[in-house]
Formats: sequence, structure tokens, C-alpha cells
Amino acid sequence: NIYEDASTASAEVAEEIATLIRQRNKEDKHTVLGLATGSTPTEVYAELVRLHKEEGLTFKNVITFNLDEYYPLDPHSLQSYVRFMNEHLFNHIDIPEDQVHIPDGTLDEKEVPEYCRKYEQKIREAGGIDIQLLGIGRTGHIGFNEPGSRPNSRTRMITLDRITRKDAASDFFGEEYVPRRAITMGVGTIMDSDRIILMAWGEGKAPIIREAVEGNIREQVPATYLQEHENASVILDEAAAEKL
Ligand code: GLP
Repeated sequence: NIYEDASTASAEVAEEIATLIRQRNKEDKHTVLGLATGSTPTEVYAELVRLHKEEGLTFKNVITFNLDEYYPLDPHSLQSYVRFMNEHLFNHIDIPEDQVHIPDGTLDEKEVPEYCRKYEQKIREAGGIDIQLLGIGRTGHIGFNEPGSRPNSRTRMITLDRITRKDAASDFFGEEYVPRRAITMGVGTIMDSDRIILMAWGEGKAPIIREAVEGNIREQVPATYLQEHENASVILDEAAAEKL
């Protein structure tokens, strides 16, 4: 779906999420959201906050699972996805704290595999993800599933691609300060979601969007796996769609 600009597209995505939440609230059921970070989803979060404040949309029945977090990283640090989510969404809505899940960048390395297994278990126990939001990295990563990620991969520690670390350099005030690793949901975890919405804005994303949408399905571009999902949409502004 191609929209005139990111704001219009983001409002549409937020409305889809809000519609599901309202419907589930009526049925007294939970909504499970898979959430992404980065600059791409910020307007969706801003619109959800507005719907909460101005239209009384409640998140009391919402459970969230974030895709990823750098490792190691303190949740209070500027670049932490915990901090990002609090600032853009969680601090401004009424979601109970124990219904929010973000991979923990402070674990001892030996605790990570068990932690990741439990993260998967919690998603299953919540009933699986209803709507998964995604951005896309220049490498074609979804979450932090870098080139080489297998279609059946699950939540795990990964090594970040050089290009991803370069792209994160300004956030960390220099490439040498960007963590070398991250914890991410797997491709398989993402593909298990009922609905997937990948968003991309701006001409910088146009080449990788073309690969993701029109390229052969292959592990060198993990976003191509989404072509096999039955209910995935790619939401673009005109600039990100210009190479299609
Ligand atoms: C990071 C995140 C991804 C995100 C990507 C793109 O790598 N882990 O989830 O999709 O950045 O970032 P942006 O939305 O800022 O372009």
C-alpha cells in the first residue's frame, strides 16, 4: 500500500491497531501486539497516544512484545529500546507494566538462551501475536534478523551486520560504541504472527524495499521471507515505493 506520506500511512496503521483493540476490549479479550523501534513507527505510536488521550482508547487489555534490544545495553541508556518505548508510547498510555515485554540487554551471557526460550514461551502463553509491526534495515533485516537468518529462527542473540552498526553510529556517537550484538525475536517468531505490517518511509529505503517485495526469497534478505506470509502488508510512502 502506497500513501502520499508517512503521517497518513501511520494514521491508517494506528487505526487498524485501535480497531482490533476496541473489538477485543468489547469481548473482554486481550490484544497482543508485536512492536518495533527506530524512526519508522514513531508516528504510529504518537497516534495511538492521541487516541488514548482524546478518544479514551484503553490499553488495559493489551500485551506487548518488542522485537529486539542491543546487547549488552543498560535500559536507562539513551539508545535503549526500553527507553525508546517508554518515551514514545508506554509512559503515555494505561498499559499495565507487567504486560510489557522487551528483550533484556543486561543479562549475563550464559542466561541468554534460557531467557530467549522463556520469551518465546510468554508469546505462546499470551496466545500469539495478533499484529506485528516491523521496520526494515538497509541490510533487509526485520527485528535484528540480519542476512543469514534462517526462516525458522527463534528469539536469540545475534551479531549485528557492519551496515547496521554504521547506521546506528550516530545514535551511539560513533560506530565503535555500537554494541556488536543484540537479542531479537526470530524470523519464525515474526512469521507466526496473525498479521504483519512492515512500514518504510523515504528514498533511502527504496532499494531494500524493492529487494524485499520483488526479490527472490532468500536468507541474504530476511525481509523477503514475508512474501510467504498470508496476511502481511507493506506500507510505504511514495519515496520508499519509487523503485517498485
Ligand atoms: C533498527 C531496528 C529495526 C528497525 C531498523 C530501521 O535496526 N532494530 O527494528 O526496523 O532499525 O530503523 P529506522 O526505522 O530508524 O529506519
